[in-house]
Amino acid sequence: MSTTLPHTVMEQLFLNARTHSHWQNRPVADETLRQLFDLLKQCPTSANCSPARFVFVKSAEAKAKLKPCLMEGNVEKTLAAPVCVIVAQDMRFHEHLPKLFPHADAKSWFEGNDAAIAATAARNSSLQGAYLILAARALGLDCGPMSGFDNAALDQAFFPDGRFKSNFLINLGYGEADKLYPRSPRFDFEEACRIL
Ligand SMILES: Cc1cc2nc3c(=O)[nH]c(=O)nc-3n(C[C@H](O)[C@H](O)[C@H](O)COP(=O)(O)O)c2cc1C
Repeated sequence: MSTTLPHTVMEQLFLNARTHSHWQNRPVADETLRQLFDLLKQCPTSANCSPARFVFVKSAEAKAKLKPCLMEGNVEKTLAAPVCVIVAQDMRFHEHLPKLFPHADAKSWFEGNDAAIAATAARNSSLQGAYLILAARALGLDCGPMSGFDNAALDQAFFPDGRFKSNFLINLGYGEADKLYPRSPRFDFEEACRIL
C-alpha cells in the first residue's frame, strides 16, 4: 500500500538534493544507467508516448564530440562528469504508439500534425528528463542539468539523420557537496500557488 515516505527519503530526493558542478573521481557503472532507465520509464507520459531518447555520453571520444557544442561555462564540469546524458526527443515517436498504447489508434492522432508532434515531444521528453533526475537521486547519484549548448550543432554531431532532436543535458555522477554555492531562494506557496 502507498504511504508517505520517510523524511530521509524526502531529503535525498528534494530537500537536500542540489544541482552539482563538481564531481568526485568515481565512475558510474553501466548497470546503474540501466537501473536508472528502468525506474524512469515507468513514469507517466501522454498516451504513454515515451518520446525521450537518452544518450549516455561516457567515453573520451564521445565527450570530445560533445565539447564544441557546449556553452563555455558548461565545458569544464561536463568533461569532469562521469556521464553526460543527452535528453533527446524522437520526432517520430508516434510510430511506436501501436506498441506503447495498443488499446487505441493513437498513432493517427499525430500523423500529418507536426505541431502536435512537436508540442507532445517537448512536453513529455522534458517530463522524462525530470523523472531521470529524481530516479538518479533515488539511486544516490547527483545531477547537473544544462540547457546551455548549441542544440543544432549537437543534433548535427549526434543525430545527423534528423529523427532525434536534443532537449537538454544532464551531467550525472557523485557530486562534491563542499563545492556547492548556498541554495538560491524558492517561492513560498502563497507566491506560486492558488487553491481554487
Ligand atoms: C533545464 C535546466 C537547464 C539548466 N541549464 C544550466 C546551464 O546551462 N548551466 C548551468 O550551470 N546550470 C544550469 N542549470 C542549473 C540551474 O541553475 C539549477 O538547477 C538551479 O539554479 C537550482 O539549483 P539547486 O538545484 O542547486 O537548488 C539548469 C537547470 C535546468 C533544470
